Amino acid sequence: MIPTRTQVAIVGAGPAGLLLGQLLHRAGIDAVIIERQSADYVLGRIRAGVLEQVTMDLLDEAGVGQRMHQEGLLHAGFDMLFKGQRHRLDLHALTGGQQVMVYGQTEVTRDLMDARRQAGLLTVYEAQDVSIHDFDGPAPRVSWRQGDQTHELRCDFIAGCDGFHGVCRASVPEGAITQYEKVYPFGWLGMLADTRPVHHELIYVNSPRGFALCSQRSHTRSRYYLQVPLSDRVEQWSDQAFWDELRLRLDPQAAGELQTGASLEKSIAPLRSFVAEPMRFGRLLLAGDAAHIVPPTGAKGLNLAATDVKYLAQAFIEHYQGASSAGIDHYSDRCLRRIWRAERFSWWFTSLMHRFPDNGEIGQKLQEAELDYLFHSQAALHSVAENYVGLPLNFGESAALG
Ligand code: APR
Ligand code: PHB
Repeated sequence: MIPTRTQVAIVGAGPAGLLLGQLLHRAGIDAVIIERQSADYVLGRIRAGVLEQVTMDLLDEAGVGQRMHQEGLLHAGFDMLFKGQRHRLDLHALTGGQQVMVYGQTEVTRDLMDARRQAGLLTVYEAQDVSIHDFDGPAPRVSWRQGDQTHELRCDFIAGCDGFHGVCRASVPEGAITQYEKVYPFGWLGMLADTRPVHHELIYVNSPRGFALCSQRSHTRSRYYLQVPLSDRVEQWSDQAFWDELRLRLDPQAAGELQTGASLEKSIAPLRSFVAEPMRFGRLLLAGDAAHIVPPTGAKGLNLAATDVKYLAQAFIEHYQGASSAGIDHYSDRCLRRIWRAERFSWWFTSLMHRFPDNGEIGQKLQEAELDYLFHSQAALHSVAENYVGLPLNFGESAALG
């Protein structure tokens, strides 16, 4: 039975919506999730898989960290390959002991779905024509269709966790929202394969043939990416063509050790920097990809979604405990500071590692100088490392510099 009223209606069952649902459940707040796709479809989407400590902690707090700790791989560094030489960034040493967790977003989503099912919580999948109403007043509603049945859910708040192409941000009146966007002149062709990863850590590659990334999901499952022109279609890329091109972008040692095999998945994703401001409109609050997109270099997308959700859950909890509405009032500002910092890092790391068709020879020379500086400056390495593992939640709030 689908109820007609809940406290928080969550639109979208990606990691943001599911994590919010889980945190609210643990705080005794009632929520229903309405998702356009099927659960299998949601699980079929392959996305980045590097978790910051803040995200690991939040998954633990949500009670869904168990499998991550068993199966995830802690990485204390990564390699950057440039001009045939690999340079290791020792995250652990550069950040005073921090690491990241390599654990696929699909697995995070699966753990959250399992927890939701076990707790008997409602997710409406395959909801058609989802619309949101009256979020500028005291009694918002979400409606949708399933077959020839129409449903309506009354609520106190709507959490817009419906991704970049969702309905929530699109429902905000044009004059109330400002959107900042940069589209990059290339895409990432990704391939998943059950082969041994070429290296025990990630390798980010800046080669004359374009960017490449050697990532992984486990000791037996690899995830690789190639920078490709936006005009490329995935059908043009046979598995063999992918492996051949990857090998050409690697150093001789990695190329020699690369284990190839049949692909489990191949897809091309465009690269975009995008932020919508503010993230709250009356009783509608946006979180995750619904409000911002980063290019995937540095894998900040899921981590940003997780911190939005942390702040949003805290805000709702404060509200329902009758403490105050300050969390809701400050939600947008609080998130946006962190978001812009991650946007800056993701843009910078993308600019550093890709070949830009329109930057000319001077652009290329400047990029080379920046890489040369990075590999020889402890200060620059510190900066990359602290951003890669994730800046602390209270970054910029202390008086430590004073
Ligand atoms: N109605 C209901 N659900 C919708 C609608 C709609 N109109 N439109 C989209 N959705 C669903 C999508 O099908 C998807 O399952 O909302 C969900 C949004 O999930 P994600 O796109 O995964 O976004 P989010 O949960 O914010 O996760 C952020 O995803 O793209 C990556 O890098 C990003 O890792 C980050 C993470
Ligand atoms: C991934 O494994 O999909 C991945 C890892 C690191 C990135 C981006 C993507 O920076």
